[in-house]
Amino acid sequence: MQQKKQTLILGIETSCDETAAAVVADGSHTLSSIISSQVELHARFGGVVPEIASRQHLLLINSLIDDALTQAGLKFSDLHAIAVSHGPGLVGALLIGVATAKALAYALNLPLVAVNHLEAHLYANYLSGAPREYPAVILIVSGGHTELLLLKAPGELTPLGCTLDDAAGEAYDKVARVLDLGYPGGPLIDKLAREGNPAAIDFPRAWLNNGLETSYNFSFSGLKTAVINHLYHARRRGEDINIPDIVASFQEALVDVLVEKTVTAAAAYSAKTVLIAGGVAANSRLRAHLSDRLQKDLPAVKLHFPPLELCTDNAAMIAAAAYPHFCAGNFARLDLNARPNLNLCS
Ligand code: KG4
Ligand code: ZN
Repeated sequence: MQQKKQTLILGIETSCDETAAAVVADGSHTLSSIISSQVELHARFGGVVPEIASRQHLLLINSLIDDALTQAGLKFSDLHAIAVSHGPGLVGALLIGVATAKALAYALNLPLVAVNHLEAHLYANYLSGAPREYPAVILIVSGGHTELLLLKAPGELTPLGCTLDDAAGEAYDKVARVLDLGYPGGPLIDKLAREGNPAAIDFPRAWLNNGLETSYNFSFSGLKTAVINHLYHARRRGEDINIPDIVASFQEALVDVLVEKTVTAAAAYSAKTVLIAGGVAANSRLRAHLSDRLQKDLPAVKLHFPPLELCTDNAAMIAAAAYPHFCAGNFARLDLNARPNLNLCS
């Protein structure tokens, strides 16, 4: 009996400071995933420098694609589509991926699939065995975005809320910068917070609820300012500054809000699954707190976190997110452009 032919999609990701290429079969089996992180290049600037990011993507993208094909044991002629993250992200960085993908699609005469980078983060869950049970409540927490979404059925994604100012990862990175901890701040604070007391300082939690009406929006800039003010006053008064206590208390305030709103949404929409995605999904306190809360309040709900390497930017999630669009014949034209402000929340 002849085996059904697999759909092989090459994914390309260059939206921020990771250059990545991957081949995924049928949207669920990762055949290869190559990621080159630029973190060290940007670390001494305390954040991503867009011009450096674009130049580095340009230097690496072709050889990464070759590596992705070699690792998968494939040739260009084996592919069925080229998928690329076209936003949101840094415009110059996105353009490198978009131009590469368009050139490949044209030269190989293959369909081009444009993928929303945020939607792709969600697919990191399905690539790592998340149950495909609906409704699913999804929390996307990255350096650029914080969004709470409802997936009623495959392809039926509705935004519930998003950040009104700083994203969760951005708040981690900015607080780390104020404390001179280094970049990216999330993993550093995550580690340092384990040595501190999360109840040491009562930092504000912005619930944004209006009377009895729950808001699923987020705001973290007030929390960041509260950390800056705390430092300023402690220094002026000549008090000891306990960095582990400060970061543990900051993290507790941020995670409390993420967990509370996610659990409230899961209950309100009778979710069967809760899926977390984006760089901040790697956070150990978020993982522990959310899983405790769900087990206590909604034990039937299945919680899934992707493994750490799938939480941060990668191209396997781009190829996986492209698969339903490929099946639906939802192809991009060769005049596809980068969309730095592309959103799921509007
Ligand atoms: O999804 P991602 O790789 O890139 C964007 O699309 O933004 O997320 C990067 C963000 C950074 O802000 C980083 O500080 C944060 O994820 N991050 C973490 C952790 N690991 C990465 N934040 C908190 N705890 C972590 N363990
Ligand atoms: Zn991302």
